[in-house]
Amino acid sequence: MLRFVNLQYRVGHNLRLITVSATIAGGEVLLVKGPSGAGKSTLLRILARLQPFDAGELYYSGETWRAISPQRWRQSIHYLAQQPVMFSGTVLDNLQKPFQLAVNKGKTLDMNLLGDNMARLMLPREMLAQEARTLSGGEQARVALLRAVLLKPQVLLLDEPTAALDGQSQQAALDYLSRWLGAKPGRGMALVSHRDDQDVFHRVQTLFINAGEGGAVARTAM
Ligand SMILES: Nc1ncnc2c1ncn2[C@@H]1O[C@H](COP(=O)(O)OP(=O)(O)O)[C@@H](O)[C@H]1O
Ligand SMILES: [Mg+2]
Repeated sequence: MLRFVNLQYRVGHNLRLITVSATIAGGEVLLVKGPSGAGKSTLLRILARLQPFDAGELYYSGETWRAISPQRWRQSIHYLAQQPVMFSGTVLDNLQKPFQLAVNKGKTLDMNLLGDNMARLMLPREMLAQEARTLSGGEQARVALLRAVLLKPQVLLLDEPTAALDGQSQQAALDYLSRWLGAKPGRGMALVSHRDDQDVFHRVQTLFINAGEGGAVARTAM
């Protein structure tokens, strides 16, 4: 699905060089771990093609990123930032909004999927009529997750999606993601996480990004 080989990028005021390689195959999750400031969020933004990298290769479905337009990239690979963005309007407005964008032309909101997925994320149906910006941080995080999944991407790039959640809703969100990953072949995920999330998923690789020089080591933990 998504593969990067000797991908190099620089982070921080001293422009520390990081080199990373990994392959996310169908049904797999890549957990990105490392201390604060190590460059985890930067890696996800690079994989989303929101910022450039210095050297190395990046492939989606065997094709180099150079051969894929940013628009086509984003139709398949969806990035969710650490801080959820809520537009003014109701929760339903927020879930519908992406379908009005040119990049999502041809996609339509699946209302059956919406109802079913809200329940799994412990979001009550009545919340659809609520002003999105009045939701709690944890509720916003789950609405943002739902919005990402409703767009039916192949690959989800998630930056600490459960950080704002309490124990019970965190477990629900992780179960939800694990289920999403396994529900259709060819789905993949990269997940920045400080927690021990690997137990929830079946096929997990962990990429550690060190704070020191030299970058990162990937190891596979099944
Ligand atoms: N937009 C930016 N401009 C300049 N420096 C940045 C920017 N974003 C992040 N950094 C710096 O790059 C380094 C890595 O940041 P980040 O990838 O967010 O780390 P992590 O997600 O692992 O905590 C940090 O030193 C951070 O201060
Ligand atoms: Mg970060």
